[in-house]
Amino acid sequence: MNSEEIYLAERERKAKEIGEILASYLPERKGYQKIIIEAMEYSLMAGGKRLRPMLMREMYERFGGAGRVVEPFMAAIEMIHTYSLVHDDLPAMDNDDYRRGRKTTHVVYGEDMGILAGDALLNYAFETAASAFDEYPEDSKRIAKAIAILGRKSGIHGMLGGQVIDVKETGKRVQKDVLDCIYALKTGALLEAAMMIGAALAGAGEEELKTVEKIASGIGLAFQIRDDILDVTGTEEILGKPVGSDERNEKTTYVTLFGVEKASEIAEKQSEEALRLLHTLPGENAYLEWLIRSLIYREK
Ligand code: IPE
Ligand code: IPE
Ligand code: MG
Ligand code: MG
Ligand code: MG
Repeated sequence: MNSEEIYLAERERKAKEIGEILASYLPERKGYQKIIIEAMEYSLMAGGKRLRPMLMREMYERFGGAGRVVEPFMAAIEMIHTYSLVHDDLPAMDNDDYRRGRKTTHVVYGEDMGILAGDALLNYAFETAASAFDEYPEDSKRIAKAIAILGRKSGIHGMLGGQVIDVKETGKRVQKDVLDCIYALKTGALLEAAMMIGAALAGAGEEELKTVEKIASGIGLAFQIRDDILDVTGTEEILGKPVGSDERNEKTTYVTLFGVEKASEIAEKQSEEALRLLHTLPGENAYLEWLIRSLIYREK
């Protein structure tokens, strides 16, 4: 195997492990409301790249973390990310029928259950994160910090805020600084949460957390620009979600503002800057560097 194949195999192994961790935190399918637990599981276990929990664990280990307190948080961030996708696909938002290679949750379970499944995933994420207090009482202070990061980065000052501006600006000509704000929030914030929580659980200090936040913010912008490009150049089979969604919804994106080529260049620059900052942190992690680089050339 060449080094690319070794990294790809490692990525697959790590994603599979994350799937198992997620499964272990799923609620039991019981009670009169069990339809919602099925709907949560349907979207969560459809797959997905598991990028956020993966980045979380890499940062946890980079800062010397070796325990399992990170696991409930890996599950929690993927639940919040999945909820954001379930709601993003709703008819009132991007109105998309495919996600992670399956019919979207609202198509299968109805719009009412689609809304509630998103709410359920968001709430259960915090139940899962809070379970760390009982499982790992010796880490209480770090767990409290991690939960605070998770709340802020998911909410009105984070992902949710970004989705609000995205929806408000749909169909309009958007200036670059507003678009950058949308991307920093709707996509950047959860990647920041993932990497900062990993670092915080391993005991990183405030200055280090700020650097981690900047690294993740650069990765986030590059990631969303690549997402915009794939919405134009990708295929539904590989992406597992529809292409042409942005055009249909009259979204301003990096592609509509700059074209595919220039947008790619900007994503590359952002990613390089994130890697440069990563090198200022103690330790090293060749897999993490490979992963970050691979995101701007990804096909899914
Ligand atoms: C999709 O995220 C939404 C964006 C922020 C662009 P991912 O591309 O990480 O989706 P999954 O988790 O692999 O399905
Ligand atoms: C999504 O942006 C950001 C979220 C917070 C879900 P998009 O609307 O471009 O994501 P996709 O392309 O549907 O995955
Ligand atoms: Mg959207
Ligand atoms: Mg969308
Ligand atoms: Mg998109």
